[in-house]
Amino acid sequence: VNLREDMVTEETRKLICSLPKDKDSQGNLCKYQGCWYYYNTLQAVINFQKSFQPQDTDIILASFPKSGTTWLKALTVALLERSKHEDDPLNHPLLSNNPHALVPLLESSTPDLTKFLPSSSTRLFSTHMPFHTVKEGLKGYPCKIVFICRNAKDELISRWYFRCKYENVEVTRSILESMCESLCRGSTFYGPIWDHVLSYWRGSLKDPSHVLFMKYEEIKEEPYAQLKRLAEFIGCPFTEEEEESGTVNKIVELCSLRSLSDLEANKTGKTLNGVDYKFFFRKGEVGDWKNHLTPEMKSRIDMIIEEKLRGSGLSF
Ligand code: A3P
Repeated sequence: VNLREDMVTEETRKLICSLPKDKDSQGNLCKYQGCWYYYNTLQAVINFQKSFQPQDTDIILASFPKSGTTWLKALTVALLERSKHEDDPLNHPLLSNNPHALVPLLESSTPDLTKFLPSSSTRLFSTHMPFHTVKEGLKGYPCKIVFICRNAKDELISRWYFRCKYENVEVTRSILESMCESLCRGSTFYGPIWDHVLSYWRGSLKDPSHVLFMKYEEIKEEPYAQLKRLAEFIGCPFTEEEEESGTVNKIVELCSLRSLSDLEANKTGKTLNGVDYKFFFRKGEVGDWKNHLTPEMKSRIDMIIEEKLRGSGLSF
């Protein structure tokens, strides 16, 4: 049994027959609404589009994989939970749960959509689907969407390390080279990355009160300002009193890679699919690609991304 295809229904199999197909070393891919999925994920996407029941106040955290999803989840949970834990900081959910356990993925094959934040009426979800595919499942409900974008070369390096850890294989250049090739062809899981990012970029330009476009690099550069921006967007801005008493910095600190990765829950826990939470924390640096990509790889990726983004007003 191919573990990436064992959940597919007969109806989805028929749909797959009509879709463009490709494959990578991990399995078969098909392109649905402009995005490449393994077959099980496509099934989960279709399940989401058909049966997800949105609520007006839902917040969706969207990203391309390895672009800062864990960080965005932690920051948003910390924002929504902050008032409850002022007097009881040791009982904070982020201290005993990995952010992925608190914010379920919409297109999960093992849906866990009932596990919402305990102290907030806001439901938080995450997704790696592109904007138009998510919108279809939201069925016109005015949910807020936050997207985090990361430099494509850093995303590639992060994904390379993650994949090797996940598959328990040595981190080799030949794997990086084949992943670079797939990235440039556009046929990566959830790719092409440029179409994915552009879908949210355009969504944010069209409807800025419902779609917030954030960048990993900007959060690294000015965490205080970006956290305030996120808080305002999701409707829980910091009060003057909170700013004066250092609440913003406390959240930044709580959600830093260093503090999160030091917690027992993140050192030893696993996702429902058995992925070690510790794999989600590595270096968290901007520009790590410089340590790994050849000048040829760099200029090839840059040229493609630049061409695809031309005229959009976006660079990443
Ligand atoms: P690196 O592999 O470059 O270190 P995702 O959460 O989307 O899977 O992305 C993982 C990337 O985000 C990894 O990047 C990881 O180290 C980084 N990351 C995880 N938690 C972070 C945090 N709290 N702050 C900053 N970066 C973080």
